[in-house]
Formats: sequence, C-alpha cells, structure tokens
Amino acid sequence: MKIIAVTNIKGGVGKTTTAVNLAYLAAAGGARTLLWDLDAQGAATYTLQVEPGARLSARKLVAGRREPQEAIVASAYPRLHVLPADVSYRNFDVHLAARKRPTERLLKMSRTLREDYDTLFLDCPPGISLLTENVLRAADALVIPLVPTPLSLRMLTQLRAFVATEGWGDLKLLPFFSMVDRRRSLHRELIEGTRAEFPDLLATEVPYWSEIERVSVRRAPMPVIAPSGEAARLYQQLWAEVEARVGQQEPAPSATTAPVEPDWIAGDFAAAVEPAPNGIPGRTH
Ligand SMILES: Nc1ncnc2c1ncn2[C@@H]1O[C@H](COP(=O)(O)OP(=O)(O)OP(=O)(O)O)[C@@H](O)[C@H]1O
Ligand SMILES: [Mg+2]
Repeated sequence: MKIIAVTNIKGGVGKTTTAVNLAYLAAAGGARTLLWDLDAQGAATYTLQVEPGARLSARKLVAGRREPQEAIVASAYPRLHVLPADVSYRNFDVHLAARKRPTERLLKMSRTLREDYDTLFLDCPPGISLLTENVLRAADALVIPLVPTPLSLRMLTQLRAFVATEGWGDLKLLPFFSMVDRRRSLHRELIEGTRAEFPDLLATEVPYWSEIERVSVRRAPMPVIAPSGEAARLYQQLWAEVEARVGQQEPAPSATTAPVEPDWIAGDFAAAVEPAPNGIPGRTH
C-alpha cells in the first residue's frame, strides 16, 4: 500500500480538492483506495457526500483501542472508501503527545489497512503539528499544492531541508502549482523562478477556475461533474504524474547525499514539531 499525503502548512490552497480528485482517479484506475480525512473540518468527507457511521475518536484510535477499519464507509464510487473525519481530530496532537513514540502512531495505525488497500490518501489539515510529523513519517509521497506566493516557496525550501535533515531520502516530495492565475505577472514570475530552482516540480498546473471551485458545491470529483472538460483532464494529468513518481524506485537514502541547508531553515520547521525521541529508527514501512 502506498501512502500519499496531500499537505501544506498553508490553509485554503486546494489540498482537499486535490485529495478528492486524485483519490477518485486512483480508484477509477483500478486501485483499492482509501481517503482518510484527517481534518476535523471534514471537508473531504463532506465533498464525497459520505455519512460517517461509527464514531471513532482520535483518543481511542491513537491509543490503539479501536481500529480505523471500524469507521470506514464506502463512497458512491467503485473501490473508493472514506475514513471520515471526526470532530475529535481537532485534538489529535494532544492524544499523540500522550503516547510513547508519538511521531509513529499514524504509521502504526495505517499498518492494519495494508491488506485491504493499494493506495491510502491522507487529506491533512493545514499547519505544522505533531500530526504533521506523523504524516511525514508514514507517507511515501507528499503531494503539495503550492499557490504561487513567496511564502509558499519558502515553506517548500524549509520542508525539503527538514526532510533532508531527518534523513528521509525515500520520502517523495511532489509539489505542484495550484490556484494559478497566469494572467497575473507575479504568478508567472514566481512559477518561472521556482521551476528554475526546483526542476523536479510536477509539470501540471491547476488553474484558479470557478469550475474547480464547484467541486465543493456539487460535492463530486471533477471527472464526475464534467468528464470531458479541461479541468478533469488536468487532474488526470496530475494523477498520472503523481502515480508515475510514487511508483519510481529511488536509490537507497544516504545521509551524505542530503543537501546542506542553513541551520535556521531546518530549525524553523523542526522547532514547530515534536522532536523525534532518541533511538527511534528512521521511517520504516
Ligand atoms: N483550482 C481551484 N480554483 C478555484 N477554486 C478552488 C480551486 N481549488 C480549490 N478551490 C476552492 O478553494 C477553497 C479551498 O480549497 P480546499 O478546501 O481544497 O483547500 P484546502 O487547502 O484543503 O483548505 P483547508 O486548509 O481549509 O483544508 C474551496 O472553496 C475550493 O472549492
Ligand atoms: Mg482541506
């Protein structure tokens, strides 16, 4: 099972819209897919019109007293299941912090899903928290919607430095530009500059279109709303890129190949999350 997290420190950048569309496309392509809505706001759950069944609190999940399977619900689409958000997820960090090895709980919880699913999508809340570090540890890839602003790019630099510092060479970072308005010269300039600095950014750009905004109003993925439209085609292209990168084998991670970044960059990001306890091995799958 591959774990793909859709994440960004910033809110309102298109994470949920991306997670819903990519999860739909993964399932449509034949993969047994689970979308875990980790955001207490429950936007992904709402968008896929899923009614939560059994209530599964963050406290019980994190403590291992309940299994994620108990709350999984089928969506209206073949092979696409949803683990709905619970309002208690707003306190995820409190419960994580109370456990031993607090940064590895999500990885542990996801292990029981391996038999049943080929792909697990995580729709993450904005912010940097202990839950974020759990996501970084558990995921095989991070899909990062980037609105072209100087701050988004700074975040990407910090995140890369943090991942390198932790020695997580096998974690794939898949940023792409989201909510792009190519009529704006600032967007065009920032995109060009960032692509020069980070040549491995995904090629697909998702524009700021009211058609895409309707995903949250119509409460269905783009390929369902307008299967032959340009927006659906763009999400298909985005998924094809993500799928190809996630499936790619990379050389074994080596601490010596980690890029050297100024301390303050890595420090900035690391300070916001719980430090990994000593003696804990790196990300293991
Ligand atoms: N490409 C787009 N063009 C126009 N509107 C969009 C686009 N992508 C998302 N939106 C709209 O922008 C708003 C925020 O999108 P979304 O909920 O996907 O972002 P998010 O990063 O998950 O937000 P949050 O941080 O609150 O979880 C929603 O109203 C959504 O419909
Ligand atoms: Mg969201």
